[in-house]
Amino acid sequence: MKFEEARWRELGLWPRWSLRQAPVAQPASLLPEADWDGLEVSVASCRQCPLHAGRRQAVLGTGDRNARWMFVGEGPGAEEDQQGEPFVGAAGRLLDQMLKATGLKRGEDVYIANVVKCRPPQNRTPSLDECNTCLPYLRRQIALVQPDIIVALGKVAAHALLGCEGALGTLRTRQHHYGDIPLVVTWHPAYLLRNPADKRKAWEDLCGARQRMSANPCTPHGGSGDTATT
Ligand code: URA
Repeated sequence: MKFEEARWRELGLWPRWSLRQAPVAQPASLLPEADWDGLEVSVASCRQCPLHAGRRQAVLGTGDRNARWMFVGEGPGAEEDQQGEPFVGAAGRLLDQMLKATGLKRGEDVYIANVVKCRPPQNRTPSLDECNTCLPYLRRQIALVQPDIIVALGKVAAHALLGCEGALGTLRTRQHHYGDIPLVVTWHPAYLLRNPADKRKAWEDLCGARQRMSANPCTPHGGSGDTATT
């Protein structure tokens, strides 16, 4: 037995340890057939835009992959980048309250994703190029989840999903579709943290979403119709 082999054996590393074949990641533009595993691998190893350079990890999405409700934000912030889950910081806590006010709960019939999967530096708004490069991932997520309704949180999500520009104040008052899926536009929770006076409008938007989903009247949760304003 060679000396080298003997040492490896002593360390419990013989037969010689070797790297497993890395799963082959597909670029976002080649994803129309990807399943969840393929999507996870592709997003985790994506280097198609400059945002990859500053990420701790890519953040794909979270929640019920068979959800009827899908919420789409802009992109991960510092805490999301650290924890690998969308909307876990201050904006996320407000989103959880908004979900509660709508009679929903993170992870239960709710799937949450972002337009871009990597944190933009200093939490800046992702550029149009970055959004367009990342969009096939979100499109594939929507195709896999097949939600009954999509809620676009803020301008970046609304513009990316609708393929149009326009002021959020105008977009939120219109009825939209993504393909044949009803799409509701509302304020981003981070915006609502800075502009709490608009929380009531967001509550109205979510009531509208509920009504589009079913004939259920929108009843307040937690005692007051203003739950989303806390
Ligand atoms: N803002 C977003 O748009 N997404 C997150 O995940 C967190 C903050």
